[in-house]
Amino acid sequence: MSTKNGKPKQDAVQATAKPGDSFASVMERRLSRRGLLKGVATVSAALAAASVAGKVDAAMAADSPVAPLSPANTAAARPVLQTKGEIGFLSVNADAPTVPAGYKVETLVKWGDPIIKGAPAFDPEKQTAKAQEQQFGYNCDFIGFMPLPEYGSGASDQALLVVNHEYTNPELMFAGYNLEEPEPTKEQVDIQLAAHGVSVVEIKKDAQGKWTVAAGGAMNRRITGATPMIITGPAAGHELLKTSTDSTGTKVNGMLNNCAGGKMPWGTVLTAEENFHQYFANRDAMEDGEVKEIHARYGLPAEASERRWENFHNRFDLTKEPNESFRFGWLIEIDPYDPKSTPLKRTALGRFKHEAGTVAPVTPGKPIVLYTGDDERFEYVYKFVTTGNYDPNDREANMKLLDEGTLYVARFNDDGTGEWLPLIFGEGPLTADNGFKDQGDVLVKTRLAADLLEPTTMDRPEDIEVNPVNKKVYMVMTKNDRRLAEGEAEAAEQPVNREINAANPRPVNQDGHIIEVTEEGDDYAATTFNWDIFLLCGHPSDETVKFGDEQFERSAVSPISSPDNIVFDMDGNLWIATDGQPAAIGANDGFFMVPVEGPDRGKVQQFFSSVPGSEVCGPEFTPDNTSLFLSIQHPGEGGSYERPLSYWPDNKVPTRPSVVVIQAKDLQARIGTMVV
Ligand code: FEO
Ligand code: CA
Ligand code: CA
Repeated sequence: MSTKNGKPKQDAVQATAKPGDSFASVMERRLSRRGLLKGVATVSAALAAASVAGKVDAAMAADSPVAPLSPANTAAARPVLQTKGEIGFLSVNADAPTVPAGYKVETLVKWGDPIIKGAPAFDPEKQTAKAQEQQFGYNCDFIGFMPLPEYGSGASDQALLVVNHEYTNPELMFAGYNLEEPEPTKEQVDIQLAAHGVSVVEIKKDAQGKWTVAAGGAMNRRITGATPMIITGPAAGHELLKTSTDSTGTKVNGMLNNCAGGKMPWGTVLTAEENFHQYFANRDAMEDGEVKEIHARYGLPAEASERRWENFHNRFDLTKEPNESFRFGWLIEIDPYDPKSTPLKRTALGRFKHEAGTVAPVTPGKPIVLYTGDDERFEYVYKFVTTGNYDPNDREANMKLLDEGTLYVARFNDDGTGEWLPLIFGEGPLTADNGFKDQGDVLVKTRLAADLLEPTTMDRPEDIEVNPVNKKVYMVMTKNDRRLAEGEAEAAEQPVNREINAANPRPVNQDGHIIEVTEEGDDYAATTFNWDIFLLCGHPSDETVKFGDEQFERSAVSPISSPDNIVFDMDGNLWIATDGQPAAIGANDGFFMVPVEGPDRGKVQQFFSSVPGSEVCGPEFTPDNTSLFLSIQHPGEGGSYERPLSYWPDNKVPTRPSVVVIQAKDLQARIGTMVV
């Protein structure tokens, strides 16, 4: 994605300073054993061999300036690709969401829609922060379908929809916004703060099967980049969390860059602060010392931020509030069933660029196990095991579980085994000799602590979810265009493990992959595991790709790149949302189904195609699988207010990030079961 739009820049290599534990020879050994890899080719070479050139819209594939397009010619200006699968044919470069015949897609809720009672109607030319605080936020991501009247009711016709708002695209929100030399007004900055966070909205399906939002619903809520929150767990009150406005180190205003998340068995939501670094400014001008070094490890901007929020809010200027950024990068627990509840930043789960926080299937009387990844090139996969046990009859006790437990980081061995390495103060290298004073220190500086345990550097960990049917854990590595081949790292860089390893086996990994993990004894709290690569994404004619066990013709597989969020249907089929296909394979991002068992294991089939410039995220089924919700995030990214790349969803400017709902035309049919 463009570096001009607030998306993660992923510029700074944040790799650990550890020797590599696995290299190309290991990869070849491992993959050739499975008869998968016939030769190592760079992705660009592979793409050329795949002869997709000519089918690819160059304007979409490159970072070239975007010519103004009218609504009438937007779709026509782009070659329309067709992808064929068992589910059907799809047009994949249209300026409208596309689903197979037999299904329908409708827009449910859009940026700016009134949510809170009394909220004004959306008026993009007269938008205010006060209005935005009461309206649906920008760039929807995670979606949690929380049944009404209560969690666990299994209802599929009414719910609280909990939706993350990851970030803002000011160049698409405000007329005349200059991304190259940003000079936002304070009102524009405050609108963006209010457009971040979470929306909680009551939704209901009527007798005709149509979903609607209850504008002004009693349980509707907006949580923003300024909403008061409490910091809990071992790092609460830590010296590094204290600022000039909070001497307790326990109170913080707002959450930022909430990407994906998870649902807890007791009816709360965990929402993940991801690329929080981009909101802070002026690291280079800070006093030298440990704080500055920690900020460097987390990639905080050396000079002005791209957003320039520091022009109006001192807390985003590191020279004025050096510790404010330590209060971001956490997983936050929210109780959507109590509109007055205070969001809780759970420090026991570590501080990094969390993509998600997903819980493994629970057993009464056993600990809760959560998976979460640090989404940056060469970062790590983590899991958390609570000290206390889950009690389905004691919600109050469950609400304290996430404050005490063990955080682990993953090492993927070259032989298909793996280990979970605990981050416990006083154990192994996590001692005062290495700069750690207590467990709070380990958690605030999670990346630095993890570096010392020699985990495996990954190709940008995105979603991690457990398949409730086959019990395996699926870990999505979206891509890593800086992954080096064996021997490519300079001698001076050797301590940095940027060369391929068995679990991240492709150099210049443009298309991403999905790892399938089996915990020892199917016990999610186990400290060892086995792993395999399930998908190496890309165009089917690229010989470096892998689609499961491939007991089918490659021609029957849909091209797929840049997997991000995943979900499982009630049969255990894996569904994949993508973020980054235009640059990789020349198709709009989409949503795909793939069986994980049986003869079709690995047979990827496209089900949904999104609009230009957008990513697809937040996939969420109703419990009965008859409705599917998707977030269409940053439609038109790469264009601007004046030079739109997309006019969706209103066929006019500005484009509006929105949640869509998909149903079979036969409303009783489960999504995905109806083959066309
Ligand atoms: Fe916000 Fe890792 O995607
Ligand atoms: Ca994501
Ligand atoms: Ca992403």
